[in-house]
Amino acid sequence: MALLNDAVGPGTSICLLGAGQLNDVRLDELLQRSSSVTLVDVDAATVESALTRHGIPRSLRCRLHPPVDLSGVLDVLPAAGSPVGGVTEGLLSHLAGHRCHIDGAPCDVTASLGVLTQLLQSVVDSALSGPSAARVSVALRDKHLRDLVRLTRPGGTALLVTDVVSTTTAPELVDADPRNLEPHMAALVAAGNFFTGTNPYRIVAVLEEDAHLSALVAGAHIADPWLWAVTPDRQHLTCAIVIRRRPAAAGPPA
Ligand SMILES: C[S@@+](CC[C@H](N)C(=O)[O-])C[C@H]1O[C@@H](n2cnc3c(N)ncnc32)[C@H](O)[C@@H]1O
Repeated sequence: MALLNDAVGPGTSICLLGAGQLNDVRLDELLQRSSSVTLVDVDAATVESALTRHGIPRSLRCRLHPPVDLSGVLDVLPAAGSPVGGVTEGLLSHLAGHRCHIDGAPCDVTASLGVLTQLLQSVVDSALSGPSAARVSVALRDKHLRDLVRLTRPGGTALLVTDVVSTTTAPELVDADPRNLEPHMAALVAAGNFFTGTNPYRIVAVLEEDAHLSALVAGAHIADPWLWAVTPDRQHLTCAIVIRRRPAAAGPPA
């Protein structure tokens, strides 16, 4: 919320990708501070229930988008147990060209709320494995980055909030100083202990180095990570990558 509040002001339009149960934002506060909030999820029924639970009616300012598969591949990934011969190249080319359409986009602020690892989980759950799974995961991550940036208005802000590693494989995080988790994240990433496709340092590098993305992005930085209690006995080290879109190029003089 602190990062969202920094980016939001009167008249701002907001798009929340992976809105889900609306547990990780204070939607009432965002609605007060902005002109509109568009809620996007593959599971729109869950978002609808969350709105009811929070006592927030749908309106022109609080929009629930019809279900969207933000991965773009749920229908084409080979199901576990099915043959995979030859599908990898087709998936990579599909991901390279796929764009998610969101009504009302681009918005001033777009936030991806813990949805990246869910998108990547669909690859883990598929029949793909080994190098094929790794290549498709990275292509899916890069597609999500392109969507996030493209759904954000020039001059606006995109936030990619993603979990990076679990206390299941990094139990030392439980005892770490919660105000100084970044060095732990750096060490865990350097040791290869992170969810495939979520390396935040690599994500910033992609935003800066990819020809298409760097033309749209003015800058990106990693905000201090925090621990997200996923279940009573498991926390995920989570961080946000704050992405500033370049302002629109000025038109020719009149
Ligand atoms: C970990 S939850 C995010 C937490 C959520 N913001 C909350 O506060 O409850 C991830 C969300 O991503 C959604 N999701 C998973 N796969 C998706 C997909 N392929 N396309 C769009 N949303 C997806 C899930 O339905 C879920 O609501």
